[in-house]
Amino acid sequence: MARARARRRSKQRRRLGNVAALMAGLILTGALYSVVSPAQAAPADDASDSAAVEAGRELYERSCITCHGENLEGEANRGPSLIGVGSASVYFQVHTGRMPLVRNEAQAPDKPAVFNDEEIEQLMAYVQAYGGGPELPSDDLKGGDVAKGGELFRLNCASCHNFVGEGGALSSGKRAPSLKDSNDLELYTAMLTGPGNMPVFGDNQLTPDEKRSIIAYVQTISNQSDPGGAGIGRVGPVAEGLVIWLVGIGILMFGVFWMGSKA
Ligand code: HEC
Ligand code: HEC
Repeated sequence: MARARARRRSKQRRRLGNVAALMAGLILTGALYSVVSPAQAAPADDASDSAAVEAGRELYERSCITCHGENLEGEANRGPSLIGVGSASVYFQVHTGRMPLVRNEAQAPDKPAVFNDEEIEQLMAYVQAYGGGPELPSDDLKGGDVAKGGELFRLNCASCHNFVGEGGALSSGKRAPSLKDSNDLELYTAMLTGPGNMPVFGDNQLTPDEKRSIIAYVQTISNQSDPGGAGIGRVGPVAEGLVIWLVGIGILMFGVFWMGSKA
């Protein structure tokens, strides 16, 4: 029994080994091919680019065209023009689930379509190809200066998003959201495109390097599970001081009454 099982297992292992060898062979062949024929690689790349644009057009015509128009020019009272907003804005709006916008109509509460990364790439390719505008950064967003980022954050972002990025209410019922769940690219593209009531922080206002520092700072404070202090709902140092003060006064009063009752 046990030996039969062992034999079966070893046969399975051999079969896995064969599959691995086949995969390695295929990858090697592919690598060799791309080295040997670099001239053919470029047109293939272009072809896949225009395939992405075409796929993006289909998605756009299905999900965006009613509000943003046939030629990205926008539709009155429905949606703004997407000419010049660039793939950065598409990334931000679609990746954070803001787009496609769902209208509040007397309709079955269908779950909004959520696009996957490949579809977002395709929508980005389409809007970029026909509208132009700011693109995603091509370099790594890691490795910013946390201390410098903290300073820049307090200067540029804290007035709306609060000092620890928890967000807060703005005037006329608008709200700056919490930054706790934002990924690096969402942070970058939010600054670059200024969604809704948020100002645009172009590369003149904040250089790409300064944006990276802000990202490093925001991710650092988001990853801190707790900024410290007693567990009173993390409402901040003022409230903590107030609690200490009230409890302290309470203890003092108790002491006074206790001594008074003794006397
Ligand atoms: C029901 C209408 C509607 C649909 C459908 C819709 N949008 Fe929008 N879109 C809007 C409105 C309204 C705004 C402005 C929102 C704001 O300013 O907060 C907007 C804003 C945007 C922006 C930001 C533009 C800027 O100035 O930076 C992008 C990008 C965008 N939409 C892309 C899309 C894409 C891509 C789709 C399809 C997947 C889509 N939208 C579907 C209504 C819509
Ligand atoms: C004037 C107020 C204001 C300032 C200043 C501001 N923001 Fe915003 N921010 C907003 C508002 C409002 C939104 C929501 C926009 C929307 O939903 O269309 C937002 C959204 C965001 C988001 C998207 C969060 C999400 O829900 O996914 C990020 C990221 C962000 N801001 C980062 C920043 C950073 C970084 C700075 C500083 C460089 C900054 N903001 C400065 C008002 C502000």
